[in-house]
Amino acid sequence: MKNPFTFSNIVTGPNFCNRKKELKDLLEFIRSSQNVLLYSHRRTGKTSLIRQVFLCLKEQNPDIKALYIDLYGTTSEREFMSRIFQQLNVLESGTDKLLSLLKNSIDKFSFQISIDPATGSPTISPAFKAADENLVLKNLMGLLEKFSLKRKIVIALDEFQEVARYANAEAFEKQLRSYIQQHENICYIFSGSQQHLLSAMFQSKGRAFYQQAASYPLHEIETEHYLPWMKEMFDAGNISVSTDHLAEIVERFGNHPMYIQLFCFFLWRELQDSPWDDRTMDRIERAVIDQKNLEYQMLWDNLTINQKKTLKLVLMNDGRNLFTAEALTAVNISTASIVTRCLKSLFEKEILVKNGKYIIQDLVLRKWIALNV
Ligand SMILES: Nc1ncnc2c1ncn2[C@@H]1O[C@H](COP(=O)(O)OP(=O)(O)OP(=O)(O)O)[C@@H](O)[C@H]1O
Ligand SMILES: [Mg+2]
Repeated sequence: MKNPFTFSNIVTGPNFCNRKKELKDLLEFIRSSQNVLLYSHRRTGKTSLIRQVFLCLKEQNPDIKALYIDLYGTTSEREFMSRIFQQLNVLESGTDKLLSLLKNSIDKFSFQISIDPATGSPTISPAFKAADENLVLKNLMGLLEKFSLKRKIVIALDEFQEVARYANAEAFEKQLRSYIQQHENICYIFSGSQQHLLSAMFQSKGRAFYQQAASYPLHEIETEHYLPWMKEMFDAGNISVSTDHLAEIVERFGNHPMYIQLFCFFLWRELQDSPWDDRTMDRIERAVIDQKNLEYQMLWDNLTINQKKTLKLVLMNDGRNLFTAEALTAVNISTASIVTRCLKSLFEKEILVKNGKYIIQDLVLRKWIALNV
């Protein structure tokens, strides 16, 4: 049997653990066309959750059209719009119907239509040269609104923080908001992971998206939901792992979805050939840490010497009392102001988070630093 655990792809169906409350909440937001900001640290399961919500929607409300737009890597308003155009075939999958939808709504600029050989679906690309971008955006938003008057739509804009990096971000956000506000029959799911960018967009009074969406932080999956799911996955391969061991895996990896999948992936592989022994847990944990070696090495190499010392300071003191003479001497930092500066920059890089104390956000990075430097 193929290893059922996956740590690098979007997971849905049987590979998707629980999240029943989140699914229910998001379906409610969609049905009531309430915009929502879905955010979390990296690899917590935002994209998988959106995909799973869309699958549920297909079963429960097939009349609602769902567009998933991945904004990752977009650097301009044009690319933003192009990604939406590429998904318009969700609204009308037949080429003729799609063409007539476009012709009825878009009359001031030209576009090309081609067939995606992989899916056989028609794909639209706007010709930006002939028209100015504002006009294309106006037409595109008008088309969405017009369609939504017949059928409800949900549009997930994943990696939405990319917008904040566009050259004319603030002006574009303002424009976008002016359209989105009029879309009473469309639910927008804004999703992303870079919290300082997202909170600047949605929580700063001066910004266009200030309080434009219900805030929905995505947390880790709870232990009581993990255990039956993990057991079922191992049982399907006739592999027996005790509930205590499963609970220990979840605890060691702070309930983090991606790391638990990674651990279980290695564990599944190992238990094919050899039974569980006293060292299994530590051996697999080490394999998980080693798997991230290259990435962490690069991250570490890109830090300044004082940032590295500050991370060690945080680790050695469990994130508290970082400014005592004794603590500073132990890591060879001469003044507290250096620590203040480095904490700020590490916080901005989202390597550190603050929760009553400073914590290295990525739990496996924490383990890697403790082992390697
Ligand atoms: N509900 C779930 N059940 C089991 N595993 C999950 C679940 N959600 C996410 N995962 C695991 O976490 C990994 C990351 O999931 P996903 O890509 O959906 O997260 P993300 O928050 O969108 O990540 P990124 O911040 O990189 O965009 C998946 O490959 C999978 O291993
Ligand atoms: Mg994602």
